[in-house]
Amino acid sequence: MTSKTRIPIQLQINGYLHELEVEPRVTLLDALRDHLGLTGTKKGCDQGQCGACTVHVDGQRVLACLTLAAQAEGRAITSIEGLANGDGTLHAVQAAFLEQDAFQCGYCTPGQIMSAVACIREGHTGSDDEIREYMAGNLCRCGAYPHIVAAVRQAALEVASSMETAS
Ligand code: FES
Ligand code: FES
Repeated sequence: MTSKTRIPIQLQINGYLHELEVEPRVTLLDALRDHLGLTGTKKGCDQGQCGACTVHVDGQRVLACLTLAAQAEGRAITSIEGLANGDGTLHAVQAAFLEQDAFQCGYCTPGQIMSAVACIREGHTGSDDEIREYMAGNLCRCGAYPHIVAAVRQAALEVASSMETAS
């Protein structure tokens, strides 16, 4: 197999199945951005050091730049475009980022938000220090960190109270 050989893969993204043919070396990040037109997931480094490419695979946060598209076959992928409800209502974390001014240029924001959703799901929101530690894999050169912590804290409380209401 030469490096130009393409392989057919099926990716389940935000609830939809996509069929594509890519070279085996293509990352999930490039598959999303260049092959499927889902450009919300950003490339800040392509080396696993910035977190701008964070998406969910089977509910876990992963760096799409270090994940081959082929590795994600058969798994449930969620990108920032799939986070809001079908009716367009923002996810609690998206709304909290708006309310707390947790972004400036917005380039790190999709990765921050995907990471924050997972951070809350993982239960790492017990204190501001814990939020800072478990959000440390997402760099923000605009320095929005204090607002990001406030947004994650707010969203964690909202998610917890909505789960209480639901139960
Ligand atoms: S682009 Fe993936 S960690 Fe920076
Ligand atoms: S908002 Fe600009 S890098 Fe974070």
